[in-house]
Amino acid sequence: MSVLYEETNLTPLQVARESGYLDWSSQPSLFKHYPDFLFRYKIEENELFNVIGFSRVITSTKLIGGKPYHQLNTPSAGNLHPVELYVQIRGIKGVLSGIYHLDVQKNELVLIQEIDKNGLEPYVGLEKSLYGMLFIISTVPFRAEWKYGKRSVRYCYLDVGHQVSALNVSLKLHQYSMTILSDFDKSVLNEMMGFTTQEFVCSVSYFGEFKKSTVTALKQKLMYVSPSNYSELQYNNVKELAKKEVLKSLVTQVSENIKKKNILSRRSARVFEGKEVLNAAELDAIIQEINRVHYPLVAHVVLLNDAHLHPGVYLQNRLLKEGDFTQELTSLLVDQKFLLNADIIVIFTAKYFSANTLMQAGAAMHNLYMLSETRQFGCSGIGAFYDSKVQKFLQTDNYILYVGALGVKKK
Ligand SMILES: Cc1cc2nc3c(=O)[nH]c(=O)nc-3n(C[C@H](O)[C@H](O)[C@H](O)COP(=O)(O)O)c2cc1C
Repeated sequence: MSVLYEETNLTPLQVARESGYLDWSSQPSLFKHYPDFLFRYKIEENELFNVIGFSRVITSTKLIGGKPYHQLNTPSAGNLHPVELYVQIRGIKGVLSGIYHLDVQKNELVLIQEIDKNGLEPYVGLEKSLYGMLFIISTVPFRAEWKYGKRSVRYCYLDVGHQVSALNVSLKLHQYSMTILSDFDKSVLNEMMGFTTQEFVCSVSYFGEFKKSTVTALKQKLMYVSPSNYSELQYNNVKELAKKEVLKSLVTQVSENIKKKNILSRRSARVFEGKEVLNAAELDAIIQEINRVHYPLVAHVVLLNDAHLHPGVYLQNRLLKEGDFTQELTSLLVDQKFLLNADIIVIFTAKYFSANTLMQAGAAMHNLYMLSETRQFGCSGIGAFYDSKVQKFLQTDNYILYVGALGVKKK
């Protein structure tokens, strides 16, 4: 049994203990800002920047209690967004080669350091210079720990998984393909990025081509900028994990052709339609997408209110146990009542519990969100569940990583 899994387990007793008052005025800031004196490009200045712009962007802003409430193209547990995105750009006509931060709030690329013969390549296991874009996704754990305590480590990596897939979707939309890099010393990269104890590299990927020239080390590490207005990160295991682990393998790419409007309109379903159910074609599309996930993930499908197939628990189209488990499963998912009207619950598990498997699960879930957006049905990630009870329900020793709910969206 993974110590981290046990330490971050959710039980009914914990939920009761922790459902206390939360002072939202103490929420750490959601967005990292580099100093204003740095050079920056607006995303709309160059068509190619859209690859970055459509991978992470604010898609809704409301005022709640007099405070702006931003939602992004990526979902996030509690809408806390403990994620940042960086890109090294080299050899793109009319663009200064350098290492940039995406300032999501301003929709700008901020040049942190210009590069020439030097760059990040030696720190991510590349020997030759990469003409194209090199992406680094980091997590800022305190933004989630502030609300979710120990369990937040899971949410950080699930959120990063969503971000990896969102980037993959944007790359596909712009006809590029993503390659994941994982064979490098992560602590050195963290240091060179100017991260200290509040922010950690989680995933490195790129598109582009290699030139013959080799790249020299950066003259100095990037400047340190605090990713939130304050931090009281406490949980040491998070820091240990965050220092070492990185996304290891390619994530599954969504099969559907995603359009820009689908990226911009994505929302989590908050209410499912009680009377209508998904039709056979919609159900089939979801099950096919779920069945595309592969090692290290295993995906169980629980059909709830379906009129077309037998309700029950399925694994790769095989019925494991038949029955209507709507009430039972909803209570295992911390009794989140809106799930009573969902049609399908998907449960991602794996033999190993790690940052990598959590990120893979987040990415797979993002693909289901994207599919839902193109077909106009509802989808929501569910990170709150009683781990050992769900394991018992599925009769599995695998670790429960992430749950998703899909169904007809209430209009
Ligand atoms: C890792 C993760 C866990 C989540 N867990 C839950 C959950 O347990 N219950 C729920 O209703 N929504 C859950 N959500 C959905 C978030 O509440 C939602 O993404 C957030 O409020 C932002 O809204 P949006 O997705 O519409 O942008 C989760 C999302 C993520 C990414």
